[in-house]
Amino acid sequence: MERRLFIRLLGGGVVTAATTGTLSGCSADLPAEALTAWQGPGQPPAAGTDPRHWMLAHAILAPHSHNLQSWLVDLRQPGSITLYCDRSRLLPETDPFSRQMMMSQGTFLELLNLAARQVGLRADIQLFPQGEFGPTHIDQRPTALIRLSPDASIRPDPLFQQVFKRRTNREAYEAREPAVDALAAIAASAVVPNTVTGFVGSAQATQRDQHRQIAMDAWRIELETPRTILESYQYLRIGPAEINQHRDGISINKPFVRAVTALGLFDRTKAPAPGDSNIAAQIKEFNAKLATTPAFFWFTTQGNSRSTQVLAGRAYARAQLAASAQGLSMHPLQQALQEYPEQAGTYAAIHQLVGAPLPTHTVQMWARLGHAPVVPPAPRRGVAAHVMPVSASAG
Ligand SMILES: Cc1cc2nc3c(=O)[nH]c(=O)nc-3n(C[C@H](O)[C@H](O)[C@H](O)COP(=O)(O)O)c2cc1C
Repeated sequence: MERRLFIRLLGGGVVTAATTGTLSGCSADLPAEALTAWQGPGQPPAAGTDPRHWMLAHAILAPHSHNLQSWLVDLRQPGSITLYCDRSRLLPETDPFSRQMMMSQGTFLELLNLAARQVGLRADIQLFPQGEFGPTHIDQRPTALIRLSPDASIRPDPLFQQVFKRRTNREAYEAREPAVDALAAIAASAVVPNTVTGFVGSAQATQRDQHRQIAMDAWRIELETPRTILESYQYLRIGPAEINQHRDGISINKPFVRAVTALGLFDRTKAPAPGDSNIAAQIKEFNAKLATTPAFFWFTTQGNSRSTQVLAGRAYARAQLAASAQGLSMHPLQQALQEYPEQAGTYAAIHQLVGAPLPTHTVQMWARLGHAPVVPPAPRRGVAAHVMPVSASAG
């Protein structure tokens, strides 16, 4: 495919297929500097020293929608961490009510909690200590206040061992299905009030086909809706210089894409024209991955308050870590769960399919699940990028 496109490029044709396979995954080796956070902070902090940076070095490895890492922490109060959502890092088109942002605050809190447990600290997490955000907008108030205190009864959680191994895996999954025991372990890892976890595999072949079809439809809609694809383009990091500079977003280091970008032939400020062959190729590639995905995982909540969304994020982090412990990969499929008008049909369809009646219930996470080749970690910005300056106020 790439060779064919390259020949077209040499032939002077308009390059329309520069990014085949990018938004659906596939990043060749990433520059090591962007991955230093994955080397970890080393030994646990010595007794009597401030453990918070060590804990944060784990928390920043949490999954976050579009890898935006919108975590800001205020460390001015000794023994506490106040967490804010960085409102300069939102996705207003694809996540108009910031539901995924709240989930991504939850994933961070879960990893922070695992790190605290590892060093015998109790993390008392108070969500929205100054009140919850309303349903459509988030404001400058904190999402959580975490108070740390030594507690001899606190035990390490085995999921901590997966923090450095967990990956979002967008590759094609093997046909073999996850073992029943593995599914049980994932479900058991994420027990949250008012949450229902579900799986579908070959035993429910008709339903699984419906999952595949909804995911295909939703992906196509996202790629063909100009403002939503442009939002994704905004967070594409192409080539080592961009990847190292930002250390966030979706990284692409494939030589062909880099070459086309360097030649100015991939304009990320313009949405592809209807019928664009690159988009058609991406849809085809993603459809092939969906068609062979052996299982899907989801969980739904009753209610959709801000606290529920954060707790859903905590549950997702645990589920993904548990999957990792079972040698399984996950790949979220949020497109159909997104609350912009063009997805209304797929949104309703996935809610109906998994038995989450609207408007009382919400599908918070939906993901491909299976065995996949190992993939490299995604960049992180490092702890210092998340610590608010002493003089700062959030917002
Ligand atoms: C709430 C939430 C929604 C996500 N939605 C998607 C998605 O729709 N598609 C996708 O490929 N990845 C999705 N992800 C995964 C992130 O893109 C991923 O966590 C991020 O790129 C960092 O990579 P890592 O998880 O391998 O560390 C989501 C993650 C979270 C927490």
